[in-house]
Amino acid sequence: MLNIARKTAKILLPKTTVYHIKRLIEENRFEQYVKTKLSANFRSVPCGPVPPKELIAKTAALDEQELEKQSNGDVYFETGYYSVLRLLQILEHFSINPRTIGSIFELGCGTARLLRHFRCIDGVRLVGSDVNPEMIEWCKANLPEIEFYHNELTPPLSFAQDNSFDFMLASSVFTHIPLDTQELWLAEMQRILRPGGIFICSVLGQNHASLLLGTEEMNKLREKGSYTLTSDDSQATYSTRVGGSAWDVFQTRAEVIRVFGSFFQIVDYIPGGQDFLVLRKPDPAVSVVMNSVPFPAEKI
Ligand SMILES: C[S@@+](CC[C@H](N)C(=O)[O-])C[C@H]1O[C@@H](n2cnc3c(N)ncnc32)[C@H](O)[C@@H]1O
Repeated sequence: MLNIARKTAKILLPKTTVYHIKRLIEENRFEQYVKTKLSANFRSVPCGPVPPKELIAKTAALDEQELEKQSNGDVYFETGYYSVLRLLQILEHFSINPRTIGSIFELGCGTARLLRHFRCIDGVRLVGSDVNPEMIEWCKANLPEIEFYHNELTPPLSFAQDNSFDFMLASSVFTHIPLDTQELWLAEMQRILRPGGIFICSVLGQNHASLLLGTEEMNKLREKGSYTLTSDDSQATYSTRVGGSAWDVFQTRAEVIRVFGSFFQIVDYIPGGQDFLVLRKPDPAVSVVMNSVPFPAEKI
């Protein structure tokens, strides 16, 4: 019944109204969740401004049509609330309450579409970095409560001390890091995460491979475990073609587990639009049994 009402509304209402309603739904789900989980540690914060379309083009668009949609302010916030709620639910699934998180780092934060929503955790230290200086300038000018830094294409992150973050994320970033520097970045992320800390990052899994690659490329991906499109390739994502990155990097699940698993304990590999990896830096001083029930795959 609800599905029929949803489909009818989609046909009858202007797109912008549908986007607005969807944003309100996600915002409400997010707020209810964080208010309950954080209780006295919840802080109400305005969501902040929508970035200019040129910056969204470089971070969020699979193709030209998607760009129109993604640069709508309501869609920008809807996807941000949805994704951060999902990250918090993943943490909860593995017994981590956001109240116990004192510091968060996001690699490749872009316009802080995600990082900004963690400001609801009272007293948390938030740090974001990006290789694109335009993103960082915009973030610094518009989200003053968060620390932002520009980083180079290869590590180190000179602003970050060893073992300094409780939780780290990289959403749609290792998907653009070329294979020859991926291990350097994993080693750097391992250096700055505290023992026992959690790192959640995404990779281009089966869903994106089947959307963007043809039969020949899929065969090469299966054969080698990885396949890279460059910004000159017509199949590359729109964001990559317009200079948001120089590469779209595809990896099989087995290859991801081999590479990422040599730096972190792999707690879960969650299939979805992009696949999400839940990684933990082992703490030799504390023995922890993580939940072995898998977090549900994302409905696409
Ligand atoms: C698809 S966007 C995702 C942005 C953001 N994480 C989000 O979910 O909205 C990828 C971002 O990663 C950044 N990026 C790519 N390679 C990077 C690297 N080696 N170090 C830091 N940022 C990088 C790009 O500049 C871009 O802002």
